[in-house]
Amino acid sequence: MSQYSQPDFWSLKARKEGYPARSVYKLKEIDEKFGVFKRFCGKALDLGAAPGSWSLYTLRRVGAAGSLAAVDLSPLSRQYDKGLFDKENFRFLQGDMTSMEIRDAALALGPFNAVLCDAAPATTGNSAIDAIRSLALSETAFEYAESALAQGGVFVVKVFQGGDSASLLKRIRGLFSQGRSFKPQSCRKGSFETYYIGLGKKS
Ligand SMILES: C[S@@+](CC[C@H](N)C(=O)[O-])C[C@H]1O[C@@H](n2cnc3c(N)ncnc32)[C@H](O)[C@@H]1O
Repeated sequence: MSQYSQPDFWSLKARKEGYPARSVYKLKEIDEKFGVFKRFCGKALDLGAAPGSWSLYTLRRVGAAGSLAAVDLSPLSRQYDKGLFDKENFRFLQGDMTSMEIRDAALALGPFNAVLCDAAPATTGNSAIDAIRSLALSETAFEYAESALAQGGVFVVKVFQGGDSASLLKRIRGLFSQGRSFKPQSCRKGSFETYYIGLGKKS
C-alpha cells in the first residue's frame, strides 16, 4: 500500500472543490503569490498535466477567452471536468514531453503566455536518482519556455531539491525579468519538491 493511499486534508478538499488531485493548491498558492493568471488571459501550456487539476484550475482562471494545451503520458481524469476538457479552447496531447513528436505538436499550438510544468518522474526511492530525473524534465520544460513562451510570459516548474537545480534557477533568471523559488504550504511534509517561477520573459 502506498504511503499516500489515505486521502489527507488537501486531497479531500480537492475532491470537494471539483479537482482530481491535491496538487491544485500548489498552483493556487503560486497564482495568489505571483499573480500568474493576472498577467494574462491568453494561451497556456501544462506539461505533466494528469490527472488534470492544474489544467482545470487554468481553464477556470482563463475562461472562454483563453486556451490551454496539456501534455501527459497518462490520460486525464474526466471525473471533475464538467465538459471543460471537451471545449474547443482545450487540447490534450498524450505522450512523452521529451519526444520530438510531442514537442513539435505542442509548439505548433503556441506561442503561449504561460508554460506550467508539474511533471514528475516515477520515483525510485533513491532521492539522488529521482532528483536527476526530475531535473531533466524541468530542463525540458525550460526549453519549451525558451521556444514557445511569448515576451512577458510566465513560467512555473516543479523541481526536486537535491540535484543541480541551482543552475536551472540561474538560467531562469537569465531568460526572465524575475526568477523566484517558492515552496507552497500545500506540498507534502518532508517532500523534496519546490517550484521555480519565471516572471516576464525577456524579448
Ligand atoms: C504530479 S503529477 C501532475 C499533477 C497535475 N499537475 C495535476 O494537477 O493533476 C506528474 C505527472 O507528470 C507526468 N509525466 C512524467 N514524466 C512525463 C513525461 N516524460 N512526459 C509527459 N508527462 C510526464 C506523469 O505521468 C504524471 O501524471
